[in-house]
Parts: sequence; C-alpha cells; structure tokens
Amino acid sequence: MTAILETTGLTKTFGAVTAANALDVRIEAGSVVGLIGGNGAGKTTFINLVTGYLKPTSGTVHFDGLDITGQPPRLITRLGLCRSFQIPQVFDSLTACENLLVGLGIVSMRRKAFIGSALGRQSPEAVAEEMLQRFRLGPYRDELASTLPEGVRKLLDIAMALAVKPRILLLDEPTSGVSSDEKFALMDLVLEAIRAEGVTVLFVEHDMDVVRRYVHRILAFYEGRIIADGAPAEVMAHPEVRRYVVGEPPVGGEGAC
Ligand SMILES: Nc1ncnc2c1ncn2[C@@H]1O[C@H](COP(=O)(O)OP(=O)(O)OP(=O)(O)O)[C@@H](O)[C@H]1O
Ligand SMILES: [Mg+2]
Repeated sequence: MTAILETTGLTKTFGAVTAANALDVRIEAGSVVGLIGGNGAGKTTFINLVTGYLKPTSGTVHFDGLDITGQPPRLITRLGLCRSFQIPQVFDSLTACENLLVGLGIVSMRRKAFIGSALGRQSPEAVAEEMLQRFRLGPYRDELASTLPEGVRKLLDIAMALAVKPRILLLDEPTSGVSSDEKFALMDLVLEAIRAEGVTVLFVEHDMDVVRRYVHRILAFYEGRIIADGAPAEVMAHPEVRRYVVGEPPVGGEGAC
C-alpha cells in the first residue's frame, strides 16, 4: 500500500531528553491509526515534528513522497497534512463560525488564492456551514468560543482542521477534557466526518476502549521509541504495552524473589 506519511530515523532531543528516538513510521493512505503511550512518551513531539511545529534533530519526513523535513507548518498545511491540538487552538473572542472562517484564512487576510486551490469550487462560507452541520455545531454557530463546553471546543478545533480539506489529519488527544460518557459520541462524529471526506487519520488517545473501537492499527510509544506497531489485539497484548502504557504489572508478577 502507498505510504501517505513516512518518517525515517526521526529524532528530537531536548537537552538530555530524547523525545523522538529514530522513529521509522509509515502511514498508509486511508488508514485509521491510534497513537498510544504514557505521559511524556513523545506522542505530541511526533505530531509537532511531522507538521513542522518542531524541527527534527535528525531524520526525515516525507508526505506523499515529498520531503517536507523542517518545512514550516503553513506550507505543510497547504500540502494537505493538518492537525488538531491537545489544547484546542480556537479564538475565544470569535464565534464558532468565525473560527472556521479564520481557519480557512479569509476573515482578516483574504488569502483567496490558497483557499481557492484547497477548496475547489466551494466558497469558504459554504465550507464553514458544511463543517458546522457535519460536526453538529449548528446550535453554536454564533456563540463565542469562550462560552463553549470543552467537548464542543474540541470539535470546533477538529472541524477547523478538516475544513481545509486535508489528505491526512493528525489529532492530538481529541477526547481529552471530555467526560467518558461523551467520548464515544464525539469520536463517532469525528470519524464519520473524516470518513466522509476520505481522509487518513492518526489520533492520540489515552482511553484504550476508544482506541480499540475506531482504529485499524495501533502505534505504541515509550520514551520516544516505538515499542509495538500492528493490529489492535496484537499491540494490546504486547508485554511492553501492558507494562508501560496500560500500566499493568507483568504476568507472573515482577520482582518476586
Ligand atoms: N519544548 C520542549 N522542551 C523541552 N522538553 C520537551 C518539549 N516538548 C516535549 N518535551 C519533553 O519531551 C518528552 C515527550 O513529550 P511529549 O509532549 O511529546 O509527550 P506526550 O507523549 O505527548 O505526553 P502527554 O501524554 O502527557 O501529552 C517529555 O519528556 C517532555 O517533557
Ligand atoms: Mg501530548
């Protein structure tokens, strides 16, 4: 299968910390991949590296065969590699609809050349409306983002990323800050919208029930390394995943002397 995203030896050090340690990751077009790992495992660093928010210490990132290593986020987004954030990056003083329009780059900048090429024939206003409907954000259309519940802010952030019609979307903890009984409803909506657009997706998630329900494949990180990569059942049964990600003691009880 074709890799839409491929990293080779991707490494990032912060002083003595190696947050990404020679990561070789291939994401196939059309797949839904879950990225798991405990706090500080390097999940956000990986997303930051491939989307240009961080420059790697070494290694390469290829998007659809094109070397995008170290390119700025603006350019990477234009190519169709987009992301949402662990903490939603919405503008509190704007309404939900205005946020979408800003995400589409038109409210203050009027950068129509970019928008025209990314959206085809649709006007930015039409795309914003489509996203409001698709993510059931219609009732919040004219509400200020500052007044929205956390789950709705999360949805808005993801809708803003999907609005620019990416080919691959990297979601950093789409359900964090959302109550456990709302997580599945949020992810159902997100995955439905993503599938309707035919977008490849990688999402970071701590809740293993959420991961299992939606993904074809799981990548597990620990201390900046890949400790397991494969089908959900296989990865969830991996001893290092059980120990470092799920937090279970090893079978047989470690330390018995
Ligand atoms: N800008 C930075 N400066 C210094 N250290 C950093 C920076 N960003 C991340 N780190 C360190 O890199 C490691 C990986 O952090 P990262 O945020 O990628 O983890 P994560 O897997 O996303 O964790 P979480 O589940 O808590 O979001 C951690 O040790 C973190 O402290
Ligand atoms: Mg993180």
